[in-house]
Amino acid sequence: MVTFKKKAPGPQNAALERSLPEPGRMDAALTDALMKRRTAYDFSDEPISDEHLSTILWAADGLNGKTHRDDHRTTPTALNWREIETYVVKANGVWLWNPLSCSLVFVHDHDRRRDMCLLQPLVRQAPVHLVYVFNKEKTQGFATDLAHSIVKYTKSERIATLAEEVSERSPLIDTGAKVMAVYLACAALGINCMARQTFESARVSKALLLKDAQTPICIQTLGYKPRGILDLAF
Ligand SMILES: Cc1cc2nc3c(=O)[nH]c(=O)nc-3n(C[C@H](O)[C@H](O)[C@H](O)COP(=O)(O)O)c2cc1C
Repeated sequence: MVTFKKKAPGPQNAALERSLPEPGRMDAALTDALMKRRTAYDFSDEPISDEHLSTILWAADGLNGKTHRDDHRTTPTALNWREIETYVVKANGVWLWNPLSCSLVFVHDHDRRRDMCLLQPLVRQAPVHLVYVFNKEKTQGFATDLAHSIVKYTKSERIATLAEEVSERSPLIDTGAKVMAVYLACAALGINCMARQTFESARVSKALLLKDAQTPICIQTLGYKPRGILDLAF
């Protein structure tokens, strides 16, 4: 068990949420996890347990502060924007990971896993897809406002260009950090995992009911290793 990870949900979290168990410990040595990290191309269709899902989501974007009041995260984001949201697409519907309460916020109850894939048939019925979504609305805050003020005050095109470049690069790099954290967690837990760019952005956005300010950046498909040919998700 990992302690000090759960915060009481605030009054703003009135949405329908399903609590996940506390994330479990991953005791694999970092060297061993890095040695085992692989992209897998086959997945059992067996559902991922809530314990494993909670642990993997915690690795992607979980609380690791020293106290209940400290909402420090397992993965970094530029300017601490926390602009990458993790959606969970499963047979029982679409959910949004809430790191503060270690829970899944209900989006809808349709199985949209097929919309997450293009060609790879073995990926299609994998039990879980994590979709990393850039939410532009979250790239606000003190540091961003300060940068805008500097640009406005100095009227410097160079600073404006630099600020623009930072905003463009950050969601991609911040997503990469989560992808790697999940690859390592999966390696430690013995779960198959594949990062994917092969998806249709418009189809994924529709399936996840995303707003205009939200863009899917990457999908990570998860599933247990198939135990035999009949365990493969055809
Ligand atoms: C951002 C990203 C996107 C990827 N997209 C795909 C993909 O669309 N299809 C695919 O088969 N593999 C995809 N991969 C997996 C890579 O092809 C894989 O990491 C590479 O072949 C190296 O293999 P390894 O991860 O086992 O070291 C992706 C990997 C990353 C990091």
